[in-house]
Amino acid sequence: MKHFFTSLAALALLAASTVAQADISIEKSSFGKTKDGNDVDQYTLKNEAGMTVVLSTRGATITQIHVPDKNGKFADVTLGFDDVAGYEGEDNQYFGNTTGRVCNRIAKGKFTIDGKEYELAINNEPNHLHGGAERSLDKVVWKAKVVNDKNGSGVVFSYTSPDGEEGYPGRLSVTVRFTLTEKNQIRMAYSAKTDKATPVNLTNHAYFNLGGAGSNTVLNHQLKLVADKYTPTDETLIPTGKIESVEGTVLDFTKMKKIGARIKKLDDTAAIGYDHNFVLNNQTGKVKLAAILRDPESGRVLRVSTDQPGIQFYSGNFLKGQKGKGGKEYAHRSAVCLEAQRYPNSVNIESFPSTILKPGETYRQITIYGFGVIKPKGEDKKADSAAKAKG
Ligand code: GLA
Repeated sequence: MKHFFTSLAALALLAASTVAQADISIEKSSFGKTKDGNDVDQYTLKNEAGMTVVLSTRGATITQIHVPDKNGKFADVTLGFDDVAGYEGEDNQYFGNTTGRVCNRIAKGKFTIDGKEYELAINNEPNHLHGGAERSLDKVVWKAKVVNDKNGSGVVFSYTSPDGEEGYPGRLSVTVRFTLTEKNQIRMAYSAKTDKATPVNLTNHAYFNLGGAGSNTVLNHQLKLVADKYTPTDETLIPTGKIESVEGTVLDFTKMKKIGARIKKLDDTAAIGYDHNFVLNNQTGKVKLAAILRDPESGRVLRVSTDQPGIQFYSGNFLKGQKGKGGKEYAHRSAVCLEAQRYPNSVNIESFPSTILKPGETYRQITIYGFGVIKPKGEDKKADSAAKAKG
Protein backbone atom coordinates (compact mmCIF):
# COMPACT_ATOMS: atom_id res chain seq x y z
CA MET A 1 0.00 0.00 0.00
CA LYS A 2 1.25 3.43 -0.85
CA HIS A 3 0.69 6.62 1.07
CA PHE A 4 1.15 10.04 -0.38
CA PHE A 5 1.78 13.14 1.66
CA THR A 6 2.11 16.60 0.26
CA SER A 7 3.01 19.61 2.32
CA LEU A 8 0.77 22.29 0.93
CA ALA A 9 1.60 25.91 1.57
CA ALA A 10 -1.86 26.35 3.08
CA LEU A 11 -1.26 23.62 5.63
CA ALA A 12 2.08 25.15 6.43
CA LEU A 13 0.44 28.48 7.05
CA LEU A 14 -1.88 26.85 9.55
CA ALA A 15 0.94 24.97 11.27
CA ALA A 16 3.54 27.69 11.47
CA SER A 17 2.38 30.95 10.09
CA THR A 18 5.74 32.66 9.66
CA VAL A 19 7.69 29.83 8.03
CA ALA A 20 7.32 29.30 4.30
CA GLN A 21 7.00 25.56 3.61
CA ALA A 22 8.56 23.83 0.69
CA ASP A 23 6.44 21.62 -1.51
CA ILE A 24 8.07 18.26 -0.88
CA SER A 25 6.24 15.06 -1.71
CA ILE A 26 6.92 12.00 0.41
CA GLU A 27 5.85 8.55 -0.66
CA LYS A 28 6.11 5.44 1.50
CA SER A 29 6.45 2.00 -0.07
CA SER A 30 7.71 -1.46 0.81
CA PHE A 31 11.39 -2.22 0.10
CA GLY A 32 10.93 -5.90 1.02
CA LYS A 33 11.95 -7.99 4.00
CA THR A 34 15.18 -8.78 5.81
CA LYS A 35 16.31 -12.41 5.88
CA ASP A 36 14.87 -12.56 9.41
CA GLY A 37 11.47 -11.63 7.99
CA ASN A 38 11.32 -8.02 9.16
CA ASP A 39 9.57 -5.51 6.90
CA VAL A 40 11.74 -2.78 5.42
CA ASP A 41 10.08 0.39 4.16
CA GLN A 42 11.38 3.04 1.86
CA TYR A 43 10.47 6.72 1.61
CA THR A 44 10.79 8.68 -1.61
CA LEU A 45 11.21 12.42 -1.13
CA LYS A 46 10.91 14.76 -4.11
CA ASN A 47 11.15 18.52 -4.32
CA GLU A 48 9.69 20.87 -6.93
CA ALA A 49 12.97 20.98 -8.83
CA GLY A 50 12.69 17.21 -9.28
CA MET A 51 15.50 16.18 -6.94
CA THR A 52 14.62 12.77 -5.53
CA VAL A 53 16.03 11.05 -2.45
CA VAL A 54 15.10 7.55 -1.33
CA LEU A 55 15.62 6.44 2.27
CA SER A 56 15.29 2.96 3.73
CA THR A 57 14.44 1.90 7.28
CA ARG A 58 17.24 -0.71 7.27
CA GLY A 59 20.19 1.20 8.63
CA ALA A 60 18.41 4.58 8.20
CA THR A 61 20.03 4.48 4.77
CA ILE A 62 20.10 6.84 1.78
CA THR A 63 19.58 4.43 -1.13
CA GLN A 64 19.17 6.89 -4.03
CA ILE A 65 19.92 10.55 -4.78
CA HIS A 66 18.81 11.83 -8.20
CA VAL A 67 20.16 15.26 -9.09
CA PRO A 68 20.54 17.19 -12.38
CA ASP A 69 23.80 17.77 -14.27
CA LYS A 70 24.79 21.00 -16.06
CA ASN A 71 22.27 20.19 -18.84
CA GLY A 72 19.45 19.36 -16.46
CA LYS A 73 19.86 15.60 -16.94
CA PHE A 74 19.17 13.61 -13.77
CA ALA A 75 21.31 10.73 -12.49
CA ASP A 76 21.48 8.73 -9.29
CA VAL A 77 24.79 9.80 -7.73
CA THR A 78 25.02 7.46 -4.74
CA LEU A 79 26.02 3.79 -4.55
CA GLY A 80 23.63 1.14 -3.29
CA PHE A 81 21.58 -1.93 -4.13
CA ASP A 82 18.17 -2.59 -5.67
CA ASP A 83 16.91 -4.73 -2.81
CA VAL A 84 17.26 -5.50 0.88
CA ALA A 85 19.23 -8.68 0.14
CA GLY A 86 21.88 -6.52 -1.54
CA TYR A 87 22.21 -4.39 1.58
CA GLU A 88 22.40 -7.52 3.76
CA GLY A 89 25.07 -9.11 1.57
CA GLU A 90 28.86 -9.09 1.85
CA ASP A 91 29.20 -6.57 -0.98
CA ASN A 92 27.62 -3.82 1.09
CA GLN A 93 30.41 -1.61 2.39
CA TYR A 94 28.15 0.64 4.48
CA PHE A 95 26.54 2.17 1.37
CA GLY A 96 24.51 5.24 2.38
CA ASN A 97 23.81 4.12 5.90
CA THR A 98 23.74 5.72 9.31
CA THR A 99 26.95 4.51 10.92
CA GLY A 100 27.48 3.85 14.64
CA ARG A 101 27.15 3.63 17.60
CA VAL A 102 30.75 4.73 16.93
CA CYS A 103 31.76 5.27 13.32
CA ASN A 104 35.26 4.39 12.06
CA ARG A 105 37.74 2.42 14.18
CA ILE A 106 38.21 1.76 17.89
CA ALA A 107 41.71 0.41 18.51
CA LYS A 108 41.66 -3.34 19.29
CA GLY A 109 37.93 -2.96 20.08
CA LYS A 110 38.67 -1.83 23.63
CA PHE A 111 37.97 1.17 25.79
CA THR A 112 37.60 1.99 29.47
CA ILE A 113 34.96 4.21 31.07
CA ASP A 114 34.90 4.92 34.82
CA GLY A 115 37.46 2.16 35.41
CA LYS A 116 35.47 -0.50 33.57
CA GLU A 117 36.92 -2.04 30.40
CA TYR A 118 34.59 -2.81 27.52
CA GLU A 119 35.32 -5.21 24.65
CA LEU A 120 33.77 -4.94 21.24
CA ALA A 121 33.76 -7.13 18.14
CA ILE A 122 36.96 -7.13 16.07
CA ASN A 123 35.44 -6.83 12.60
CA ASN A 124 38.36 -5.10 10.87
CA GLU A 125 41.49 -6.89 12.13
CA PRO A 126 42.84 -5.92 14.63
CA ASN A 127 40.22 -3.23 15.29
CA HIS A 128 36.53 -2.59 15.74
CA LEU A 129 34.91 -0.80 12.79
CA HIS A 130 31.69 1.18 12.36
CA GLY A 131 29.83 -0.06 15.44
CA GLY A 132 30.23 -3.82 15.14
CA ALA A 133 29.49 -7.03 13.33
CA GLU A 134 25.84 -7.96 13.86
CA ARG A 135 23.72 -5.19 15.34
CA SER A 136 25.50 -1.97 14.42
CA LEU A 137 23.19 0.90 13.44
CA ASP A 138 23.60 0.21 9.71
CA LYS A 139 22.24 -3.33 10.07
CA VAL A 140 19.10 -2.87 12.18
CA VAL A 141 15.63 -1.84 11.04
CA TRP A 142 14.67 1.59 12.35
CA LYS A 143 11.20 3.03 12.99
CA ALA A 144 10.23 5.86 10.67
CA LYS A 145 7.81 8.76 10.81
CA VAL A 146 7.03 11.37 8.17
CA VAL A 147 7.53 14.91 9.46
CA ASN A 148 6.26 18.08 7.98
CA ASP A 149 6.72 21.09 10.21
CA LYS A 150 8.55 24.39 10.46
CA ASN A 151 11.88 22.55 10.35
CA GLY A 152 11.08 21.06 6.95
CA SER A 153 9.60 17.99 5.32
CA GLY A 154 11.18 14.60 5.64
CA VAL A 155 11.49 11.45 7.68
CA VAL A 156 12.62 10.86 11.25
CA PHE A 157 14.19 7.48 11.90
CA SER A 158 14.47 6.21 15.45
CA TYR A 159 16.13 3.22 17.04
CA THR A 160 16.73 2.21 20.64
CA SER A 161 19.83 0.10 21.09
CA PRO A 162 19.62 -2.00 24.27
CA ASP A 163 22.27 -1.78 26.99
CA GLY A 164 25.21 -3.95 25.95
CA GLU A 165 24.28 -4.24 22.28
CA GLU A 166 27.49 -4.84 20.29
CA GLY A 167 29.28 -4.55 23.64
CA TYR A 168 28.57 -0.86 24.18
CA PRO A 169 27.32 0.29 27.59
CA GLY A 170 23.96 2.02 28.03
CA ARG A 171 20.57 1.94 26.42
CA LEU A 172 20.98 4.37 23.55
CA SER A 173 18.00 6.06 21.89
CA VAL A 174 18.98 7.51 18.53
CA THR A 175 17.08 9.60 16.02
CA VAL A 176 18.12 10.85 12.60
CA ARG A 177 15.95 13.36 10.86
CA PHE A 178 16.39 13.62 7.08
CA THR A 179 14.82 16.60 5.35
CA LEU A 180 14.93 17.62 1.71
CA THR A 181 14.89 21.30 0.84
CA GLU A 182 13.93 23.24 -2.28
CA LYS A 183 17.62 24.19 -2.54
CA ASN A 184 18.52 20.57 -3.35
CA GLN A 185 19.92 19.90 0.11
CA ILE A 186 19.61 16.79 2.25
CA ARG A 187 19.79 17.84 5.87
CA MET A 188 20.58 15.19 8.48
CA ALA A 189 20.03 16.03 12.14
CA TYR A 190 21.08 13.38 14.66
CA SER A 191 20.28 13.07 18.34
CA ALA A 192 21.03 10.43 20.98
CA LYS A 193 20.41 9.86 24.67
CA THR A 194 21.81 7.23 27.02
CA ASP A 195 21.28 5.89 30.53
CA LYS A 196 25.02 5.06 31.07
CA ALA A 197 28.15 6.89 29.96
CA THR A 198 28.98 5.58 26.49
CA PRO A 199 30.89 6.64 23.37
CA VAL A 200 28.76 7.98 20.49
CA ASN A 201 29.98 9.14 17.09
CA LEU A 202 27.43 9.03 14.28
CA THR A 203 27.84 9.73 10.59
CA ASN A 204 26.31 9.01 7.21
CA HIS A 205 28.31 6.73 4.93
CA ALA A 206 26.99 7.74 1.48
CA TYR A 207 29.30 7.01 -1.45
CA PHE A 208 29.19 9.63 -4.22
CA ASN A 209 30.07 9.51 -7.86
CA LEU A 210 28.79 12.77 -9.34
CA GLY A 211 28.97 11.31 -12.85
CA GLY A 212 26.37 8.74 -11.71
CA ALA A 213 26.80 5.69 -9.46
CA GLY A 214 28.65 3.02 -11.44
CA SER A 215 30.79 5.45 -13.46
CA ASN A 216 34.16 3.85 -13.25
CA THR A 217 36.32 6.35 -11.35
CA VAL A 218 36.32 9.48 -9.22
CA LEU A 219 39.95 10.29 -9.97
CA ASN A 220 38.86 13.20 -12.19
CA HIS A 221 36.57 14.63 -9.52
CA GLN A 222 37.95 17.71 -7.78
CA LEU A 223 37.88 18.24 -4.05
CA LYS A 224 38.31 21.07 -1.66
CA LEU A 225 38.42 20.44 2.10
CA VAL A 226 38.19 23.31 4.56
CA ALA A 227 40.87 21.64 6.68
CA ASP A 228 44.48 22.69 7.30
CA LYS A 229 45.20 19.64 9.47
CA TYR A 230 44.59 15.91 9.73
CA THR A 231 45.02 13.05 12.19
CA PRO A 232 47.89 10.76 11.02
CA THR A 233 47.32 7.03 11.54
CA ASP A 234 49.35 3.88 12.17
CA GLU A 235 49.44 0.93 9.76
CA THR A 236 46.04 -0.28 11.04
CA LEU A 237 44.42 3.11 10.30
CA ILE A 238 44.22 4.09 13.98
CA PRO A 239 45.12 7.75 14.70
CA THR A 240 48.42 8.15 16.50
CA GLY A 241 46.96 11.02 18.54
CA LYS A 242 48.97 13.65 16.68
CA ILE A 243 47.40 16.45 14.70
CA GLU A 244 49.54 17.53 11.75
CA SER A 245 49.45 20.12 9.00
CA VAL A 246 48.47 19.00 5.47
CA GLU A 247 50.84 21.58 3.99
CA GLY A 248 53.29 20.09 1.53
CA THR A 249 51.60 16.64 1.67
CA VAL A 250 49.27 14.80 -0.73
CA LEU A 251 46.52 15.56 1.79
CA ASP A 252 46.53 19.26 1.00
CA PHE A 253 43.05 19.96 -0.41
CA THR A 254 42.88 23.47 0.98
CA LYS A 255 42.56 24.57 -2.66
CA MET A 256 40.42 22.66 -5.17
CA LYS A 257 42.51 19.67 -6.41
CA LYS A 258 41.92 16.72 -8.70
CA ILE A 259 41.55 13.60 -6.50
CA GLY A 260 43.68 11.53 -8.87
CA ALA A 261 46.52 14.06 -9.11
CA ARG A 262 48.62 12.66 -6.26
CA ILE A 263 46.76 9.51 -5.15
CA LYS A 264 49.48 7.20 -6.56
CA LYS A 265 51.72 8.27 -3.70
CA LEU A 266 49.27 6.50 -1.37
CA ASP A 267 49.17 3.23 -3.33
CA ASP A 268 51.49 1.48 -0.92
CA THR A 269 49.86 2.68 2.28
CA ALA A 270 47.44 0.62 4.40
CA ALA A 271 44.54 2.68 3.06
CA ILE A 272 45.58 2.25 -0.62
CA GLY A 273 44.41 5.78 -1.28
CA TYR A 274 42.68 8.51 0.68
CA ASP A 275 41.12 7.30 3.92
CA HIS A 276 41.97 10.04 6.38
CA ASN A 277 40.25 12.06 9.04
CA PHE A 278 40.68 15.76 8.36
CA VAL A 279 40.54 18.24 11.20
CA LEU A 280 38.14 20.89 9.99
CA ASN A 281 39.09 24.53 10.45
CA ASN A 282 35.61 25.05 11.85
CA GLN A 283 35.73 23.98 15.49
CA THR A 284 32.86 26.22 16.58
CA GLY A 285 30.18 23.55 16.81
CA LYS A 286 28.12 25.56 14.30
CA VAL A 287 27.25 24.28 10.83
CA LYS A 288 29.79 25.51 8.27
CA LEU A 289 31.09 24.44 4.88
CA ALA A 290 33.52 21.50 5.20
CA ALA A 291 33.99 20.12 1.68
CA ILE A 292 33.22 20.77 -1.99
CA LEU A 293 33.30 17.89 -4.47
CA ARG A 294 33.01 18.67 -8.22
CA ASP A 295 32.79 16.59 -11.34
CA PRO A 296 33.92 18.78 -14.27
CA GLU A 297 32.40 16.40 -16.80
CA SER A 298 28.79 16.32 -15.58
CA GLY A 299 29.15 19.71 -13.90
CA ARG A 300 27.59 18.37 -10.69
CA VAL A 301 28.78 19.75 -7.37
CA LEU A 302 28.29 18.50 -3.81
CA ARG A 303 28.81 20.79 -0.83
CA VAL A 304 29.07 19.19 2.60
CA SER A 305 28.43 21.41 5.60
CA THR A 306 28.60 20.20 9.17
CA ASP A 307 28.92 21.16 12.82
CA GLN A 308 31.35 18.26 13.40
CA PRO A 309 35.08 18.83 14.08
CA GLY A 310 36.25 16.23 11.53
CA ILE A 311 35.53 14.66 8.16
CA GLN A 312 36.75 11.30 6.86
CA PHE A 313 37.64 11.56 3.19
CA TYR A 314 37.62 8.02 1.79
CA SER A 315 38.26 7.47 -1.93
CA GLY A 316 36.48 4.10 -2.21
CA ASN A 317 39.76 2.14 -2.20
CA PHE A 318 38.16 -1.05 -0.91
CA LEU A 319 35.41 -1.09 -3.55
CA LYS A 320 35.99 -4.33 -5.42
CA GLY A 321 33.85 -4.28 -8.54
CA GLN A 322 30.75 -5.59 -6.78
CA LYS A 323 27.46 -5.24 -8.66
CA GLY A 324 25.08 -2.60 -7.35
CA LYS A 325 21.91 -0.87 -8.54
CA GLY A 326 20.91 -1.82 -12.08
CA GLY A 327 23.78 -4.35 -12.23
CA LYS A 328 26.37 -1.56 -12.40
CA GLU A 329 29.86 -2.34 -11.16
CA TYR A 330 31.43 -0.37 -8.35
CA ALA A 331 35.13 -0.37 -9.16
CA HIS A 332 38.12 0.47 -6.93
CA ARG A 333 38.11 4.26 -6.37
CA SER A 334 34.79 4.78 -8.15
CA ALA A 335 33.17 6.74 -5.31
CA VAL A 336 33.97 9.19 -2.56
CA CYS A 337 32.72 9.23 1.04
CA LEU A 338 32.81 12.44 3.05
CA GLU A 339 31.90 11.31 6.54
CA ALA A 340 31.40 14.19 8.98
CA GLN A 341 32.32 12.94 12.43
CA ARG A 342 34.33 13.35 15.60
CA TYR A 343 37.83 11.93 15.26
CA PRO A 344 38.28 8.16 15.01
CA ASN A 345 39.25 6.26 18.18
CA SER A 346 38.56 9.39 20.27
CA VAL A 347 37.40 7.14 23.11
CA ASN A 348 41.04 6.08 23.57
CA ILE A 349 42.74 9.43 22.85
CA GLU A 350 42.27 11.98 25.58
CA SER A 351 43.54 14.98 23.61
CA PHE A 352 40.79 14.54 20.95
CA PRO A 353 37.34 16.13 21.46
CA SER A 354 35.36 13.75 23.65
CA THR A 355 32.84 11.28 22.23
CA ILE A 356 31.47 10.26 25.64
CA LEU A 357 27.77 10.84 26.11
CA LYS A 358 26.53 10.86 29.71
CA PRO A 359 23.04 10.30 31.11
CA GLY A 360 21.08 13.55 31.03
CA GLU A 361 23.02 14.88 28.03
CA THR A 362 21.88 14.90 24.40
CA TYR A 363 24.25 14.07 21.56
CA ARG A 364 23.56 16.18 18.47
CA GLN A 365 25.09 16.52 15.06
CA ILE A 366 23.97 18.21 11.85
CA THR A 367 25.34 17.57 8.37
CA ILE A 368 24.02 18.88 5.05
CA TYR A 369 24.66 17.48 1.57
CA GLY A 370 23.91 20.32 -0.88
CA PHE A 371 23.83 19.66 -4.64
CA GLY A 372 24.27 22.07 -7.52
CA VAL A 373 26.16 22.53 -10.77
CA ILE A 374 29.42 24.28 -11.60
CA LYS A 375 28.53 27.75 -12.82
CA PRO A 376 30.14 28.79 -16.13
CA LYS A 377 32.82 31.41 -15.51
CA GLY A 378 31.39 34.89 -15.15
CA GLU A 379 27.80 33.67 -14.67
CA ASP A 380 27.72 34.76 -11.05
CA LYS A 381 28.80 38.26 -12.02
CA LYS A 382 26.26 38.41 -14.86
CA ALA A 383 23.45 37.32 -12.55
CA ASP A 384 24.63 39.90 -10.07
CA SER A 385 24.55 42.83 -12.49
CA ALA A 386 21.21 41.66 -13.97
CA ALA A 387 19.75 41.69 -10.46
CA LYS A 388 21.19 45.17 -9.84
CA ALA A 389 19.81 46.48 -13.19
CA LYS A 390 16.36 45.16 -12.20
CA GLY A 391 16.63 47.09 -8.94
C1 GLA B 1 35.41 4.02 6.21
C2 GLA B 1 36.76 3.58 6.59
C3 GLA B 1 37.37 2.79 5.49
C4 GLA B 1 36.49 1.61 5.13
C5 GLA B 1 35.11 2.11 4.77
C6 GLA B 1 34.14 0.99 4.55
O1 GLA B 1 35.40 5.06 5.37
O2 GLA B 1 37.60 4.64 6.95
O3 GLA B 1 38.64 2.34 5.85
O4 GLA B 1 36.42 0.72 6.20
O5 GLA B 1 34.61 2.92 5.79
O6 GLA B 1 34.59 0.06 3.62
